Amino acid sequence: MLDYFRRHLGAKLFFSYLVIIVLGVTVLFIASQFILPSAFNRHMGMMDGGMMNGMMGSSDSMSQLYVDFRASFNEALLYAALTAILAALALSFLFSRSVVAPVLTMSRATQRIADGRYDERVQAIGEDELSQLATRFNQMAEKLDQIESMRRQLIGDVSHELRTPLTAIKGSMEGLMDGVLPANDETFQQIHAEADRLNRLVDDLQELSRVEAHAYDLDFRSLDASSLVQTVAKRLAPQAQSKRISLDLDLTPDLPPILADEDRAIQILTNLTGNALQYTPEGGQVTISVTRINDEVQFSIHDTGIGIPPEHLSHIFDRFYRVDKSRSRQSGGGSGIGLTIARALVEAHDGRIWVESQGERKGSTFHFTLPVAK
Ligand SMILES: Nc1ncnc2c1ncn2[C@@H]1O[C@H](COP(=O)(O)OP(=O)(O)OP(=O)(O)O)[C@@H](O)[C@H]1O
Ligand SMILES: [Mg+2]
Repeated sequence: MLDYFRRHLGAKLFFSYLVIIVLGVTVLFIASQFILPSAFNRHMGMMDGGMMNGMMGSSDSMSQLYVDFRASFNEALLYAALTAILAALALSFLFSRSVVAPVLTMSRATQRIADGRYDERVQAIGEDELSQLATRFNQMAEKLDQIESMRRQLIGDVSHELRTPLTAIKGSMEGLMDGVLPANDETFQQIHAEADRLNRLVDDLQELSRVEAHAYDLDFRSLDASSLVQTVAKRLAPQAQSKRISLDLDLTPDLPPILADEDRAIQILTNLTGNALQYTPEGGQVTISVTRINDEVQFSIHDTGIGIPPEHLSHIFDRFYRVDKSRSRQSGGGSGIGLTIARALVEAHDGRIWVESQGERKGSTFHFTLPVAK
């Protein structure tokens, strides 16, 4: 019985009504025991002096009258208590239906979500706290649904990316064992290059998960944009020289300091400039320019390279997205994570990143902004 009360909101509601009714009736009853006799006497005394004079002279008939009166009073009290209990029963039933039913629905939906059915939603009727709860519940379910499909997509993408170098390594090994491939330097280098690719991919994935989960600290400082760009240009100079690409800087004088994490800002610039050098044929040109636009400093990395066809522009920052998968693989290219990391880092700085390209072989320009230090 006690267990039933503990488990059911409706029963608890009824029980609390019952306690109030019992309390009320008890107080009324006790009060009547103490106050009623003297109040009755006083009123009767007043009547005695008035028009009732002579009608009830004896104290005997007075006390009989009092006994009758109290009996009828108690009877009325009993009926009132019974009616109140019935009303409490009906009210708690109605209330529990309107309160408990939505809670039960949500509880069942939660169970189904816990079982992995993320498309579960509940109906939000009205505007009270319960319907707000239902709306929030649906928002949470939606978010879980998104996360779950992202997770599935990620696992699919990652296994696909891992499979390519693994298949290549396995194929070469089998060729070696069967004697189809010669056991020479070239074969070993090929296998080594694939293993290297695998290694880089795993490193990139680790970095991406760290960046996307914001599992790193940003050390915001006031930085000089020009010296950042110069550092990156110096680091990438050998790569530019080896492809005979001229790497130029176009820095507006009197640039304000930016508010950024130095290592991360260098990482963004290196990713974008590295791409520009990678996707620009020999003899091309890469220019990094920096200007102030309102409260932001805008970095633009322009190249005269292979360009990006318009239909790819909106996907270019997506995870694992490459315009030409086979080409980027042949050219020792990456896995399509670099721009995703760059975007996450720019956004962590409250900046924006976007790309422009007139199309294939017409070069590309990547822009990003970082806030001016106040
Ligand atoms: N400057 C550029 N010119 C032309 N295409 C570009 C340029 N930068 C990026 N791309 C295209 O965008 C794709 C994604 O770039 P991203 O840097 O994310 O990956 P990636 O360079 O292929 O590999 P990694 O993860 O090693 O950087 C590239 O594969 C390429 O197709
Ligand atoms: Mg890249």
